[in-house]
Amino acid sequence: MGLETNITKMLGIKHPIVAAPMGPFYTTELTIAVSEAGGLGVLSHSALVSDYMSGRNPVDIMKENMLKVIEHTDKPFGFNVRTSRRETYAQQFVKDIPQFIMENQRLKEQCVYAITSAGSSKTLPQSKSFQKLKESGSNIKHFHVAPALWLADKCVASNVDGLVVTGGEGGGHQSYEKVSTLVLLQQVMEKHPEMPVIACGGFATGEGLAAALSMGAGAIAMGSRFIASKESEFHETYKNVVPPSKAQDTVLVTGALGPIRLWRNEYSLHHGLVADKEAKMAEEAAMSQEDIIAEGKAYEAAYTGDTNSGAVLLGQSIGLINSIENIKNIIEDIVQNAEKRLKNAYNLIK
Ligand SMILES: Cc1cc2nc3c(=O)[nH]c(=O)nc-3n(C[C@H](O)[C@H](O)[C@H](O)COP(=O)(O)O)c2cc1C
Repeated sequence: MGLETNITKMLGIKHPIVAAPMGPFYTTELTIAVSEAGGLGVLSHSALVSDYMSGRNPVDIMKENMLKVIEHTDKPFGFNVRTSRRETYAQQFVKDIPQFIMENQRLKEQCVYAITSAGSSKTLPQSKSFQKLKESGSNIKHFHVAPALWLADKCVASNVDGLVVTGGEGGGHQSYEKVSTLVLLQQVMEKHPEMPVIACGGFATGEGLAAALSMGAGAIAMGSRFIASKESEFHETYKNVVPPSKAQDTVLVTGALGPIRLWRNEYSLHHGLVADKEAKMAEEAAMSQEDIIAEGKAYEAAYTGDTNSGAVLLGQSIGLINSIENIKNIIEDIVQNAEKRLKNAYNLIK
């Protein structure tokens, strides 16, 4: 048995399960594990405050991470770039990384997915080096995160190859829109029925995968579920937050790059809740460089084990996750349960 979809065929993967990017953290080991298990591993836009302090450039970090991936797996994988105007290195990213892929035959074969987010869907397609990479015979596909229907429309207008339809229940970086994955997925599938779609935000089980596929998506992407895995690079204390937590244990707070969904702790309870888009944008515009660095330090504190005063990015799907497993088990379990659910649903048809 198996689940073959437009996305598994497009990306050359066995299972319709994709790793959601989780920058600024490192997800290289996770990428390798997810790709080896038949899903699509995705390198995050990684760069911790300590990296910046020691003069490391996120573009160089991405190059190193890509080389590490192809050293440990021959399976397909992808990478994320956040294209926000606030991302100092976004332009260098979209110029240098496609060039880097083009110059390495293994990367050219294995790097099949570029996901942009948190900014314009045009930044990558407008890059000459990305166009050259596509023309050079690479199978790389460009997806952009769409957190609302009007943003999905913009992605389609930018000629993306596919959409990552991400609802507000998801962990970490969020949009101002606060639409749930369930509603958003239906809106997007109705308006853009031919568009390849990866559903994201709130997925952690076979039931979720079966629902997404039934609604017309070709795969799901998961962040929080993969944090709580043996292979992820997150600190044990961070991972251990997940199994006992309830779906109600996260809050949306103000972040430097838009709203972020965090686990409820000392840090998140002392940060403002998002009121509306205008107030949020004014607040962000007033943020100083020191505020941004302080937020980055709070991310890194949590990632390295301080889950009390650090910023612990997680989604409502933590209410569905009861254990820390290895990636192969997580993926196989989800696929098997999804198959059962889909068969049961099919049997309802008379
Ligand atoms: C720790 C963490 C970091 C994240 N960082 C990013 C990021 O750098 N870029 C991005 O597009 N999304 C980011 N996200 C959002 C995820 O890609 C994805 O949308 C989210 O995890 C989906 O919800 P789930 O956690 O319920 O699976 C992050 C999420 C988490 C949990």
